[in-house]
Amino acid sequence: MTFSLSAESSTAPGRVLLVGAGPGAPDLITLRGVQALQHAQVVLYDDLANAALLEHCPAPAERIYVGKRLGSHSATQDHICDLLIEKARTGRRVVRLKGGDPMIFGRVGEELAALTEAGIPWEIVPGVTAASAAGAMAGIPLTQRGVSSTMVFVTGHPCGGQTTTPVDWRALAGLQATLCVYMGTQRFGEIADELMAGGRRRDTAVAVISNATLSSQHVRIGTLADGDELTNDPQRRPALILIGEVVRWSEMLKAAELAGAACEV
Ligand SMILES: C[S@@+](CC[C@H](N)C(=O)[O-])C[C@H]1O[C@@H](n2cnc3c(N)ncnc32)[C@H](O)[C@@H]1O
Repeated sequence: MTFSLSAESSTAPGRVLLVGAGPGAPDLITLRGVQALQHAQVVLYDDLANAALLEHCPAPAERIYVGKRLGSHSATQDHICDLLIEKARTGRRVVRLKGGDPMIFGRVGEELAALTEAGIPWEIVPGVTAASAAGAMAGIPLTQRGVSSTMVFVTGHPCGGQTTTPVDWRALAGLQATLCVYMGTQRFGEIADELMAGGRRRDTAVAVISNATLSSQHVRIGTLADGDELTNDPQRRPALILIGEVVRWSEMLKAAELAGAACEV
């Protein structure tokens, strides 16, 4: 098997690699991602990137935590962009390590725009996103012939200081799609109400998969009618919410048992 970063990536100085760390388990990063870390001189990493991955970096590599953990000083997005530019301009090989896939709810757009404007070359190494990992761990196919031919990756988190999500949940209800809700635990009741108002049945199946792929993984099954009750345990975060008939179809309980997942109905 051969794998390599594109020409120069791993050796060229002053380049930023935005690397997907995968969903949590340290062996779910890609080979290309590992190779990028092995050549890194500076790494900026988030909460959701497993810190064990930093062991791939050479000992002298500078490691900078830029997570936005609740209750601690948060690195603002502007600050992260400035740091990336500053470190790349020192001529070092910089890795920006992000949870899951950097292109999915990863604010990668702002970072790419800042790097591009600063004239700094960049490259993206994709990763396994939380929805794929959650579905796999719970034995829930995100699409299934005859059951769901559409899936939607959607955020339940308001942006830019808003109090409600920018998503038209009633319109989404009409798609009869598998909904993969990122960052939705704190507003699940509201989201479920909107989906039911838009026509999704009260007994539409819901799976809440927290800490997917980690030893603390947990799967909870219910319906839209359960609302916040399904997601109100702050210990069970981060969590991905899967909504749709694929949850029921999957015989998830059995699959989760075989996979060793803790499961509640
Ligand atoms: C800011 S988004 C980042 C998503 C990431 N870029 C990805 O592709 O998975 C963070 C959200 O992803 C979901 N998430 C990330 N890791 C997870 C995990 N191991 N288990 C369940 N959900 C996870 C949660 O919904 C969490 O609130």
